[in-house]
Amino acid sequence: MASTAMLECPSPGGRGEKSPAIGSDRAFFAWAILVASCLLFSGPALAQDPESTAPEAREQPYRSIDALRRGAPLTEEPPAAPMAKVENFDLRRGRGWPEQPPTIPHSIDGYQVDLNSNRCMLCHSRANAEQFQAPMVSVTHFMDRDGQVLAQISARRYFCNQCHVVQTDATPLVDNRFVDVDHLLAEPAGR
Ligand code: HEC
Ligand code: HEC
Repeated sequence: MASTAMLECPSPGGRGEKSPAIGSDRAFFAWAILVASCLLFSGPALAQDPESTAPEAREQPYRSIDALRRGAPLTEEPPAAPMAKVENFDLRRGRGWPEQPPTIPHSIDGYQVDLNSNRCMLCHSRANAEQFQAPMVSVTHFMDRDGQVLAQISARRYFCNQCHVVQTDATPLVDNRFVDVDHLLAEPAGR
């Protein structure tokens, strides 16, 4: 309402100057056109995805760090990326360091973990591990925050997927430069 009132007011001194409201409207339109053209013409620049360092990812545009648009111009709808397959082995993966939560070597589709049930504990609990030939959750999973070992799994370790994750066959988006401590120790000192 305030701006309408200003439009109707004759400008001070009656010299036909633009009212402040008209001036700011023009500025806004100019700004909007600038922004729109920036968005339209930045498409090809985005397509390169400079953040992606893994060579495989650069060759496959849908393996982009920009998961939403994957470098496609705003006026185009990119085809949906194929879904990665979750690994489902009987083999346990090695660990990168001693305290690493082991990755889950099997698929966990439909495994419910909520207030009423914990599907993971069907196999990984102390009582059932033998029957399912699953590794029992380790003793740290029974400890409360004061280090007391409880009879049941601790509430701190109830939601397994907070720490344990499945692995997929997705192409890595960035190079992994993790160095195992054994290799680190073997390197000459002072590096
Ligand atoms: C039907 C039984 C079963 C269920 C349910 C199950 N697992 Fe497993 N899990 C296994 C078995 C058996 C292994 C040993 C590797 C193998 O044979 O696949 C294993 C291996 C693992 C390992 C690897 C341990 C290591 O030392 O490398 C993790 C971590 C794990 N499961 C987490 C989970 C989580 C989290 C859930 C729930 C989302 C879950 N599991 C549900 C049977 C099960
Ligand atoms: C707060 C993080 C965290 C949560 C939550 C958690 N874990 Fe773990 N888990 C770990 C870590 C860290 C290790 C490896 C060191 C250890 O044993 O404590 C581990 C180890 C394991 C192992 C391997 C044990 C062994 O002796 O080889 C299994 C199996 C496992 N977890 C299953 C589970 C299941 C099932 C749940 C859910 C009920 C769960 N974990 C919840 C962090 C977690």
